Amino acid sequence: MSQGLVSAAYIVAALLFILSLAGLSKQQTAEKGCYAGMAGMAIALVATILHPTVEGTAFIIIAMLIGGGIGWQMAKKVEMTQMPELVAILHSFVGLAAVLVGFNSYLDHGVLVGAMKNIHLVEVFLGIFIGSVTFTGSIVAFAKLRGLVSSTALMLPHRHKMNLAALIVSAWLLVSFVQQGGGLLPLIVMTLIALVFGYHLVASIGGADMPVVVSMLNSYSGWAAAAAGFMLNNDLLIVTGALVGSSGAILSYIMCKAMNRSFFSVIAGGFGNDALVSNGDEETGVHFPTTAEEVADLLLNSTRVIITPGYGMAVAQAQYPVHEITQKLRDKGIDVRFGIHPVAGRLPGHMNVLLAEAKVPYDIVLEMDEINDDFSDTDTVLVIGANDTVNPAAKEPGSPIAGMPILEVWHAKNVIVFKRGMATGYAGVQNPLFFKENTKMLFGDAKESVENILKAM
Ligand code: TAP
Repeated sequence: MSQGLVSAAYIVAALLFILSLAGLSKQQTAEKGCYAGMAGMAIALVATILHPTVEGTAFIIIAMLIGGGIGWQMAKKVEMTQMPELVAILHSFVGLAAVLVGFNSYLDHGVLVGAMKNIHLVEVFLGIFIGSVTFTGSIVAFAKLRGLVSSTALMLPHRHKMNLAALIVSAWLLVSFVQQGGGLLPLIVMTLIALVFGYHLVASIGGADMPVVVSMLNSYSGWAAAAAGFMLNNDLLIVTGALVGSSGAILSYIMCKAMNRSFFSVIAGGFGNDALVSNGDEETGVHFPTTAEEVADLLLNSTRVIITPGYGMAVAQAQYPVHEITQKLRDKGIDVRFGIHPVAGRLPGHMNVLLAEAKVPYDIVLEMDEINDDFSDTDTVLVIGANDTVNPAAKEPGSPIAGMPILEVWHAKNVIVFKRGMATGYAGVQNPLFFKENTKMLFGDAKESVENILKAM
């Protein structure tokens, strides 16, 4: 393939990636967005393999078949609830790839002199730095999301000073690396510092802020890919990396706003959250259990019902019986709507996807801001597998989730909480909602509980 044709293919691929991002911004066009991205990636891969300077095509194809086969199997097996952890581990691969490309470019490059040599050294240094931070940060995010390590924030003494020191020493190493004309020692020391820095940055962020961390790592992985693009002289990788980097940064910013968090605080590893007390998972009162029959009776005697789903609905796959119950109540003239918290579940739009899958009409699914004032006018709220997103502890200064906007379900006449026991939510904070006088607990798997209510109705 001639260089001109490769460039033309890269432009088409870049346009398809932009179309893909535009499509993914709305639920109705998301599927088309996925297809545009897949087509762009296929064109990019073919053009890169057939690039006139590429050698050893057979090895590349074998590696692609092995990698593609593993990816295919993983994608087939992954549950919806495991998607964020899969995304996190994939980000770590991008980070690792940037580190390897960086060292490869350092060891094996053409003859460079003067300014071009310095630019190349800076590219190598920054590419390895961003890649290392992304690599270990994403592994910690994966471990937290999978429950392999605690989701609560690691609060080491002087943690912000340590982060600042890591940045200052890395900047000094960069200067020394360029001055020496590319010494291996500063590069290796910086890599070790960046690996620990990435680990610490994500470990110091609490469970409730993980959505922002995942989108932030998405952004870092984009910049790592862009840095690799500079080292490989690949324009498409630079454009694609910049698209992922900037869209991830915008998503992180939107999430911070939705969660009432400071963008700077999250990217700086929880800077400014030192006043927060950790944990608080002990029970703080008496709870009142109820039965499926009682809940069925309550629902049939209600005029307005709001359902606030959370991660537990996804785990139980309760969206189908939830849809059935919704239809049944609506057929009886009862007003049923859904209130969706922006970070309910484990990935952006998680609840919307599940409800759309079960064919719940879009027009009764409302965002938190659209429905929060309506709870006081509601007879019954069904909290199905949600916990942190309905936790009034967010109103208490000093709580690990302080300041996070929540669905204020307790203003309704009756609140029914569906969960299996008294465990805390993802942030590890006990929920005072469970001990309020107008709250009843319906214990058991959410799907079975909803099906039992349907039977009782
Ligand atoms: P969570 O706070 O995670 O609580 C889920 C609740 O569901 C748990 O209390 C659990 O209690 C219950 N549950 C689990 N399996 C169940 C089942 N089979 N049947 C019934 N109940 C079940 O949920 P949430 O309110 O959706 O909050 C989401 C949290 O995840 C937030 O802290 C958010 O910041 C974080 N997060 C979100 C994202 C995104 S982007 N959405 C990404 C990462 C992290 P039992 O064990 O007692 O049943």
